[in-house]
Amino acid sequence: MSDLLRRILFLPEAASSLAPRVDRLHFFIIITTFIVGAGIGLTGLTFLVRYRRGRVDGPAPAMSAPRWMEAAFAGVPLSFFLLWGALGFEDYVWARTPPREAMDVYVTGKQWMWKFAYPDGPGMVGVLHVPTGTPVRLLLTSRDVIHSFYVPAFRVKMDALPGRYTEVWFEAVRPGRYRVLCAEYCGLDHSRMRAEVVVLEPEAFETWRARQLSEPTWVTSEGAAEEEVLGPLAREGRVVAARQGCLQCHTLDGTPHIGPTWLGLYGREEPLASGGSVRADVAYLTESMMDPLAKVVAGYAPVMPSYHGRLSAADVGALIEFIKSLHPERPEPPPVQEPDYGPLPR
Ligand code: CUA
Repeated sequence: MSDLLRRILFLPEAASSLAPRVDRLHFFIIITTFIVGAGIGLTGLTFLVRYRRGRVDGPAPAMSAPRWMEAAFAGVPLSFFLLWGALGFEDYVWARTPPREAMDVYVTGKQWMWKFAYPDGPGMVGVLHVPTGTPVRLLLTSRDVIHSFYVPAFRVKMDALPGRYTEVWFEAVRPGRYRVLCAEYCGLDHSRMRAEVVVLEPEAFETWRARQLSEPTWVTSEGAAEEEVLGPLAREGRVVAARQGCLQCHTLDGTPHIGPTWLGLYGREEPLASGGSVRADVAYLTESMMDPLAKVVAGYAPVMPSYHGRLSAADVGALIEFIKSLHPERPEPPPVQEPDYGPLPR
């Protein structure tokens, strides 16, 4: 039934757990509006024929309707709008709330390609591998202009904004290859800013991942080519932290210094100088780098400079992954050779 409707309405196939929910609401709205529209059209047609010129003599008939009918004219459409709103809101909340156990993937839009990076491993351009039956949370950002990550078969669309992270999640239900498009006009090759999601059975995904971790390579799809290779993000974050001088104010061992320690910071509830508190999540950490004085943690001086324009989107993702990895119960990420970058840029 749904598949037939999908074909009649030219909808793409439904390959995520969100797709049937979106489609159900879509079908419901289409069918109810079609029925109401047909009723109005037929009534109009009947009146057109019945009251056509020449048939009725004398003055134009005076029209009046009983109160209940007027109320029904306003009330019935209104209740449909409210019903659609309520049904849509439920799906909206569901679609906007990633499950706790979701697997994270960082997505960076860039003129004109999509880059994907797993927190613990390989990064690639143009192809995202995910397992079936596992919720995947995408943390999206852009390096240049606004893009929009769109997977029609998953009914997933989310803007990727420079200097900010947005998130969206999905759970693929069927192995296969699905098209990714950019749904925000972003320049000359906007229409060619494509990628694909390769959905694998969980075992096949694990095999793929193990192979990627042992020999990281860039996989590219048509239209996308990239020169660099991303190492594990957290390690890269450590290098970024050293290069940008973050560690001159933030310690990694739990001692408060000029700024809060990064040890165990991720996910912690921090009291704010202005009252209230904030959870140190991806959104807060990003904001603190771009607009540090917006929310200053209580007990610290408001001295942190903005890193807007100094950190690329990839740097921000790497730093967050590094901070995330600093949990007291988790081992520290392996040390890396930190090159001497000279004095802190002013
Ligand atoms: Cu990127 Cu359009």
